[in-house]
Amino acid sequence: MVRHFLRDDDLSPAEQAEILDLAEAMKKDRYGYRPYEGPKTVAILFDKQSTRTRVSFAVGIGDLGGLPLIIDGGTSQLGRGEPIEDTARVLTRQVAAIVWRTSGQDRIEAMASASEIPVVNALTDQFHPCQVLADLQTIREHKGALTGLTLAYFGDGANNMAHSYLLGGATAGMHIRICAPGGYHPDPAIVSDAAAIAAGTGGSVAVLDDPAAAARDADVLATDTWVSMGQEGKDERIAAFTPYQVNAERLAEAAPGAIVLHCLPAYRGLEISADVLDGAHSVVWDEAENRLHAQKALLHWLDAR
Ligand code: CP
Ligand code: NVA
Repeated sequence: MVRHFLRDDDLSPAEQAEILDLAEAMKKDRYGYRPYEGPKTVAILFDKQSTRTRVSFAVGIGDLGGLPLIIDGGTSQLGRGEPIEDTARVLTRQVAAIVWRTSGQDRIEAMASASEIPVVNALTDQFHPCQVLADLQTIREHKGALTGLTLAYFGDGANNMAHSYLLGGATAGMHIRICAPGGYHPDPAIVSDAAAIAAGTGGSVAVLDDPAAAARDADVLATDTWVSMGQEGKDERIAAFTPYQVNAERLAEAAPGAIVLHCLPAYRGLEISADVLDGAHSVVWDEAENRLHAQKALLHWLDAR
């Protein structure tokens, strides 16, 4: 049965750990894994902008011996209304996997429903699971483990990163705190799914609106832009999120040696202060590099199913 990665909880705790182990091994031996040699082609479709995702998938597929085929949604027939399922049928006959950045989660689910090859979510409005795999790899590197650690996320609690931290972090047995103002809390259905996962992994999930309480003794502080792709022009958001900036005050409340994550691109002076993003606790460049290793491991793992 073909496996897809559409949301973080498509992987069981054991499968997530297996992929993170593989990502660590692949980082140590970058060109030692060639499952796509032949080569196989992987289609990477973008309906939204990207730097890191585009580069890391293209480079990673090359490292695996394959050929990346980057397709801009706006220049494909998909952008003119060809059914998603028909696109999946066409791609299934020619490529080894489909990686897609799009808007609604329903769109990537439609792609997967008609695809006989793995479909990977490269960001939707609801989830960014490849990013959180890389974040988990980064936390493991710096903290030695995931289970039992506390990650506090500040800002837009209703966006893709918040939802993926809930599901991916709970799968890893972490304690996930989402700290956001009223009106920007996570989707209750996703909080409930994450809580059910956490009950089995020893983790926990909490939604808070007090930044000092959320930061207290946290091992990891994380944030993301206050204006996600597709939300441009909604300036009232900035005022709502201002008390939720990750800055030196939050860092002082966190556990000693806490690390700071940001999926990037970052807006210094808004969701994160420049001194913290560019400071000694920030691991954001490791995090960006780990997109490469984590996604290579994911593609290799999916290819072997
Ligand atoms: N973090 C991330 O997904 O970056 P890009 O939008 O540049 O791909
Ligand atoms: N939440 C952001 C993540 C960008 C990588 C967005 O969706 O724009």
